[in-house]
Amino acid sequence: MKGSENRHVCVLGTQWGDEGKGKIVDVLSESFDVIVRFQGGANAGHTVKFEGEKHVLHLLPSGILRPGKIAVLGSGMVIEPVTLLEEIETVNRAGIETRGRLFISDRAHVVMPYHRLLDRAREERAGDSKIGTTLRGIGPCYEDKAARRGIRMADLIEPEALRIRLERILPQKNELLTELYGQAPLKLESVWKELSSAGEKLRETVVNVTEFLAELSEKKKRRILFEGAQGALLDLDLGTYPYVTSSNTCLSAVGTGSGFSPRKIDEVMGVVKAYTTRVGEGPFPSEIEGETAELLRETGNEYGATTGRPRRCGWLDMVALRHALTANDVDTLVITKLDVLDALPEIRAAVAYKNGEGRSVGFPASFEGRTLTVEWKTFPGWRSPTGGCRTFEELPEACRNYLAWISRAAGRPLRMISVGGDRDNVIRFDPPLWPETP
Ligand code: GDP
Ligand code: IMO
Ligand code: MG
Repeated sequence: MKGSENRHVCVLGTQWGDEGKGKIVDVLSESFDVIVRFQGGANAGHTVKFEGEKHVLHLLPSGILRPGKIAVLGSGMVIEPVTLLEEIETVNRAGIETRGRLFISDRAHVVMPYHRLLDRAREERAGDSKIGTTLRGIGPCYEDKAARRGIRMADLIEPEALRIRLERILPQKNELLTELYGQAPLKLESVWKELSSAGEKLRETVVNVTEFLAELSEKKKRRILFEGAQGALLDLDLGTYPYVTSSNTCLSAVGTGSGFSPRKIDEVMGVVKAYTTRVGEGPFPSEIEGETAELLRETGNEYGATTGRPRRCGWLDMVALRHALTANDVDTLVITKLDVLDALPEIRAAVAYKNGEGRSVGFPASFEGRTLTVEWKTFPGWRSPTGGCRTFEELPEACRNYLAWISRAAGRPLRMISVGGDRDNVIRFDPPLWPETP
């Protein structure tokens, strides 16, 4: 990691998503030229607030909200064209022009109508073993990508290519839908019509993103900000499998998801919510229930930005966080939603997992059939508002102590602290801060 001249930066979620990545990317994007999404799809919900307005983005990089910035959807993404067009329209209606500054990879995969139907049908069929997906067709689309029967943006924008691909693929999908799930088949003509019309509208934005980014970085010396979606613990390989999303969410995905080498990234910022949330099913060792969970959910407005589902709440988990920081080679920490803890008399954090024999274990590959006991550390609360603080020194002492502990235990300095949802509610450190325990 270099200093404040860092030219290429990546912002990643270190928990189960919804850490506040959208807000942080929005704050940072002021000083970047290009903002790139490289994985995931409309399962993401990134909230940005400024000038009394709230914007929730699913497919567009948060940087689209900054006039003049270039926004890129990389090859690792899965894109539902109609949803994307709707999102572009919403942003345009808010007075933000997107023409000429939005670019989509010709290699990104298209989320097809059958992907959504299959996602829902499977979740319904799975009963108790469901994943709790966002029902956006993400899993089925990535499956088709791996099975080499996907449809990509390059096909979408060529009506004849799209028809040929559909003629090959749709009969297989209809067989699944009708035979296995008892649903009505999709009609080739209407699917083709809807998608080719969307393709036409998006045609001029479709580019070879690898070359596009190389040119911007090397020749034009532009600064590029990579915006992660989901979080490290939802990563297909490194997360809480099988309760994960179907893409790689970690740093290495920048390479495959945009064709830009992660070696060129000067700083990886790990976004850490000051507590933890999770939407959907799956293990969550530091989860809590009852009054405090309720308080976190209501104060933090912990309801899914994509599905509206109440998020499960719990304390910060240092075992999981260390795993995430290692997997992503995180340089600096961005701690968000600190203000949500303002009213609590005490705060806890999970510091170790113990197995049946009382031995400390790392973050396990599988939680199935394992009894793990969580060891906690308790911190006194600060019981005063932090939303107005703009320097580290202004924060209450107990709050500074909590931050200092996180930074030391994580072995990473602080780059930023967020004390409210708005663009202005932020404390920035340049150079990054290793806080002393007061
Ligand atoms: P993302 O998916 O990581 O971009 O996060 P989401 O947008 O899904 O969820 C984060 C929520 O917390 C959004 O409603 C944000 O407006 C809000 N938020 C972000 N940072 C802060 C903060 O520091 N304090 C508070 N109170 N809210 C925040
Ligand atoms: P952002 O970018 C939180 C979760 C779903 C489900 C699992 C699989 O806003 O942080 P999927 O639809 O991807 O197949 O669902 O992953 N999930 C998220 N949780 N934030 C997200 O994105 C998420 N994207 C997917 O809830 O548990
Ligand atoms: Mg979100």
